[in-house]
This record gives sequence, C-alpha cells and structure tokens, in this order.
Amino acid sequence: MNDNLIAGRRLKLRRANATDLGYIMTLQYAPENLKFIVPFDEDYHREIIDSDGAQKLDIIIEEIDTGFAAGYFMLRELDSPCAEFTHVIIGRKGLGYGREALDLLLKWTFAVKRFHRVWIDCKEYNSIALNLYERAGFVREGLLREYIYNDGAWENLVVFGMLAREYFAKQ
Ligand SMILES: CC(C)(COP(=O)(O)OP(=O)(O)OC[C@H]1O[C@@H](n2cnc3c(N)ncnc32)[C@H](O)[C@@H]1OP(=O)(O)O)[C@@H](O)C(=O)NCCC(=O)NCCS
Repeated sequence: MNDNLIAGRRLKLRRANATDLGYIMTLQYAPENLKFIVPFDEDYHREIIDSDGAQKLDIIIEEIDTGFAAGYFMLRELDSPCAEFTHVIIGRKGLGYGREALDLLLKWTFAVKRFHRVWIDCKEYNSIALNLYERAGFVREGLLREYIYNDGAWENLVVFGMLAREYFAKQ
C-alpha cells in the first residue's frame, strides 16, 4: 500500500510507521483526549503498523507545509464493505484540522476505496465531536446505553453512520 493516502489544502493523510508510535501513544494518553476515547496499547498499534494494512490502519494527519503531525486516525474492518473509524484525535485543536482531516478521510474512504458505509461511535457528552460528525454528514443511528464504564460511571455511546450514496449526494 502507498504510504500517502490523500492530500488536501493544508493536510495530508499518510500511513503511520514505527517512528510514529510515540506520537500515537502520547496523543491517546493526553488528558484532553483520553476522556473521550478508549486507548489501545503500544503492541496493538505496532501490530497494525507492521501489518499489510488490509484490516486495520493507523493514519497520521500531517501538515503539508511543515511536515509536522497534527493528529491521527485509526480505522478497522477495512476487509469488509463497512469500515469503522475508531479513533479521531487532533493534536493541534481549534484550527479547523478536525473538519479538514475528516473530509479527507471520507473522500479516501468513499471516492478512492469505494466502501459502502462507514461508522463511528462517540461519547454522548463529547459535544465537539458530535457536532463535527453531524456537520460532516454522519447520521445518528442509535445509542448504546451505559456501554463504557469510566471513572466510576457508565457512559452512553452515540453511533453514527454514513452510506456511500449519502456521501456522494452531499458533494
Ligand atoms: C473532536 C476533535 C477531533 C475536533 O478537532 P479540531 O481540529 O479541534 O476541530 P475543528 O477546529 O476542525 O472544529 C470542528 C468544529 O468544532 C468546533 N470546535 C472546535 N473546538 C471547539 C471548542 N473548544 N469548543 C466548541 N466548539 C469547538 C469548531 O467551531 C467547528 O465547528 P463548526 O464546524 O460548526 O464550525 C478534537 O477536539 C479532538 O481531538 N478531541 C479529543 C479527542 C476526541 O474527542 N475525539 C473524538 C472521539 S469520538
């Protein structure tokens, strides 16, 4: 697989390599991110990076001008018609990078790779991410009630999905 997946105005998406492992772990465990995600350990990410990428991918969001990493995505179920976006984390927040990177990822998923559907889940109180996904065109498909036990409390997960025909209708 080509390491460069897709490029946009300010950002490009590329496959993560072994030198990105530290960045991925730091981003996951940063307190401002950790409360909104379920982290995976380093061995899990190393396995993804060392794999052929047919089933799971770690993707680095990179600033084109500087070459610096701006965030990371993790994808699963790539060997089916219905991909899952597992992690969406922006390191340099509030610059419109989340929106731009997600648009690029959707373009790669539907226009390049021709998936039928993508889905993602999100904690119900994560209002910034809920807004991000709705503005990108995801449809709220359901609620997994009290699905994650975190910090002494059960949390709900909102499930979002987007179909290929919905993506293309929006373009
Ligand atoms: C959610 C996240 C990916 C958004 O990335 P970002 O680059 O900061 O977001 P953007 O700058 O592209 O902004 C996207 C939207 O969120 C809004 N937003 C961004 N930061 C905000 C803040 N602190 N407060 C309120 N709204 C905010 C923007 O105004 C924009 O809204 P609009 O499209 O209606 O104009 C990022 O905050 C993040 O990594 N959060 C921690 C991890 C996480 O929650 N991941 C999602 C798990 S499901």
